[in-house]
Amino acid sequence: MTKLSVNINKIATLRNARGGNVPDLLKFATEAQGLGADGITIHPRPDERHIKRQDVLDLKKVVYTDFNIEGYPSDAFLELVLQVKPEQVTLVPDAPEAITSNAGWDVAKNSKLLKKTIDLLKKEGIASSLFLDTNLEQVRMAAEIGANRIELYTGPYANAQNLGMSLMETLEALRLAAEEAQKLGLAVNAGHDLNLNNIKALKHFIPFLREVSVGQGFIADCLYLGLPETVKKYKTCLK
Ligand code: PXP
Repeated sequence: MTKLSVNINKIATLRNARGGNVPDLLKFATEAQGLGADGITIHPRPDERHIKRQDVLDLKKVVYTDFNIEGYPSDAFLELVLQVKPEQVTLVPDAPEAITSNAGWDVAKNSKLLKKTIDLLKKEGIASSLFLDTNLEQVRMAAEIGANRIELYTGPYANAQNLGMSLMETLEALRLAAEEAQKLGLAVNAGHDLNLNNIKALKHFIPFLREVSVGQGFIADCLYLGLPETVKKYKTCLK
């Protein structure tokens, strides 16, 4: 079964809008795990606009499922993840001011930085995952520099209609990239703009998908349906 990793950045965004501790990030993470979420994802950005440094340290104490920390491998980011030692670090190429991740790595261009980071994480027993577009060359490079996993960027698939792209072609591109990764020994995660309308087809095309990371759509569904029903529905899509 594919793992459901819940990205809780948006809970922190809501909390920070008012100051104080409502909603309570730790309570949300604890309840999501209790209801069956297989992991918790966060993306501590340099401006701390949602997840703050202290949140990362506090979450370490309550996350007992797969803890996934995303970020650009700056010195400050690496110092933090080495302190916390999550199960997985997902490396993204975002500039500090990016609203959200919207493209995968150019692995060849960044191979020195990525390889150094992957080696460092490996030494600490942390799995590294590279955020990638559905580009076979990038997948091969990721394997070559020693990444453990990749996270395929699903934005183009989820937004195919708005982008004037063929849904089937985006799914096919995801499948080909995932199969290439699997062949090379990389585990395959996926994320971005996934929701109850598009996860099932993704899972159908990539049955061996290791994990999906869901944030914006999942949290919106929590507002409509409540957390227990939302976890249940997403888990059903991933069976
Ligand atoms: N994967 C990565 C690398 C991301 O940066 C994000 C957003 O933080 C997600 C997955 C989750 O995307 P969404 O919020 O659209 O579900």
